[in-house]
Amino acid sequence: MQSWKSYDSVAATHERLSAGLLFEPPAREMIGALEIPPGARTLDVGTGTGVAALIAKEKVGEAGIVAAIDPSLVMLRVARGKGIDRVVHAVAPGIPFRDGLFDRVFANFVISHIADAESALLDMVRVLRPGGRLGVTAWTDEQDPPRKLWQEVADSFVQPDRWREALQAALPSEDRYTDPVQLEQALAGAGLDSVTVRRVENIMRVDREDFLAMREASTQTRFLRSNLDEDQWNRFREQAREALAKNFPERMEHRRSAWIAVGVKRVG
Ligand SMILES: C[S@@+](CC[C@H](N)C(=O)[O-])C[C@H]1O[C@@H](n2cnc3c(N)ncnc32)[C@H](O)[C@@H]1O
Repeated sequence: MQSWKSYDSVAATHERLSAGLLFEPPAREMIGALEIPPGARTLDVGTGTGVAALIAKEKVGEAGIVAAIDPSLVMLRVARGKGIDRVVHAVAPGIPFRDGLFDRVFANFVISHIADAESALLDMVRVLRPGGRLGVTAWTDEQDPPRKLWQEVADSFVQPDRWREALQAALPSEDRYTDPVQLEQALAGAGLDSVTVRRVENIMRVDREDFLAMREASTQTRFLRSNLDEDQWNRFREQAREALAKNFPERMEHRRSAWIAVGVKRVG
């Protein structure tokens, strides 16, 4: 996967800011809900820079296994550098492991990227042993004031139908899984029982510049950047920076809420 849809170009910013601030708190909640015992075999689907995999590693201990897959080689390299050594360049669906191998399988903010998310979930359940647990996270559709403002500036640079097309291409299942009912149905439909979906809110204190940098690692900005010439891109950044400076203090509050969905693979 090359082009603006790939995370290759933003791995460094993802790791420096987004991983710890945005992605780790919900990942901790999901891993907690999976009740991973020491010695468990686990798989992180779409591991990125290894955020959820590292938390799982604390749980499984020396006797356990944490494997991880991702289509971005640059993200995988960072994950490996942080001690996730069983990394495989692969996607879901198409997980290169045998049926029933894992006690726990999880995907932190990944399924919204997959057009055939049903098949991806079925494949994740396939590599899970009966009685094993699967966890996924997805963003809600809530936007806090700084994000709304950033999006307003971005919208003035790209026609609405171009945005729709781009987001449909990069995050084809995003809209579906901002809905907790559809998320629950998707997990049940993939063969999981006792499915729970819970909302968590992450309240961050961030510098305005770091907020902007985190936005620049997002799918929306990767698309924007690939569509604007150098001049337009610089104007966009300037306007976004000015709009934020006018409306928010230098150290500002940023809120993101997410769904944590967990289920147990049916036995028999
Ligand atoms: C928003 S990032 C989240 C990364 C990581 N899970 C985290 O919590 O930081 C989404 C990740 O999903 C990966 N991805 C995209 N499509 C995928 C697929 N079909 N199967 C597995 N991973 C995929 C991307 O390369 C990217 O690393």
